[in-house]
Amino acid sequence: MALLELKDLHVSLEDGTEIVKGVNLKVDSNEVHAIMGPNGSGKSTLSYAIAGHPAYQITQGQILLDGEDITETEADERAQKGLFLAFQYPHAIPGVTVTSFLRSAINAVRKAKNGAVDDPIPVPEFRTELFAQMERLSVSRELASRYLNDGFSGGEKKRVEILQMAMLKPRIAVLDETDSGLDIDALRIVAGGVQELIGPNMGALVITHYQRILNYIKPDFVHVFVGGKIVEEGGPELAKKLEESGYKEWEGVPA
Ligand SMILES: Nc1ncnc2c1ncn2[C@@H]1O[C@H](COP(=O)(O)OP(=O)(O)O)[C@@H](O)[C@H]1O
Ligand SMILES: [Mg+2]
Repeated sequence: MALLELKDLHVSLEDGTEIVKGVNLKVDSNEVHAIMGPNGSGKSTLSYAIAGHPAYQITQGQILLDGEDITETEADERAQKGLFLAFQYPHAIPGVTVTSFLRSAINAVRKAKNGAVDDPIPVPEFRTELFAQMERLSVSRELASRYLNDGFSGGEKKRVEILQMAMLKPRIAVLDETDSGLDIDALRIVAGGVQELIGPNMGALVITHYQRILNYIKPDFVHVFVGGKIVEEGGPELAKKLEESGYKEWEGVPA
């Protein structure tokens, strides 16, 4: 049984337009799967649907986490079960600092694990872990005390997303174009931070247009995604091939 399984997943926008047209995928812990596709192919739509965004409707198929059907569950319940999505465009939350946001998110997961009874993380434990992860991901104390994503640069947003992931310790991480807007140093820090978390306790789905993030997060499997469908699958060598020849081979393929 896979940790995350998509079975014939179809996703439509609110106006009924079908964007994701039948995706089958299995991701296990200790595995990195890359989904690579051109702009507009539906990659973000797929990641939002996996995370449970209400604007993206699953019209057919299923999402299973540990064999359990989560297709109809709310986003927060999915997060509590260990699913994490790093957004392509993280939202700002004015009035909520990075630190307080992280503590609330951790406490929500702990509460869910504790049979809906509050079990807040002790403050010293939280601080020790937070400072260790901030150091690792080069997030300054100043940044952590600011309002979440409010006026953050692209690179700061991405680092704080990975900080959130490192603190929450999800079982499955979906990263949607985490490399976009990152310079090479920030990319190395962010992607290296993700790579270190992959192991017996976590698997990842790395969604990307470009191959470069895969130099730092090594994929075991590469899935080429064009027109809302997986059109080819292979190993890491497929990512290299895409870097050279692009997606032309599959574009214009009737949907
Ligand atoms: N919330 C939305 N409202 C309207 N159109 C959307 C929305 N989300 C996605 N789309 C459309 O769905 C298609 C796929 O977009 P997206 O999933 O963002 O692709 P990708 O991430 O691969 O670039 C695009 O045509 C986009 O305009
Ligand atoms: Mg996208």
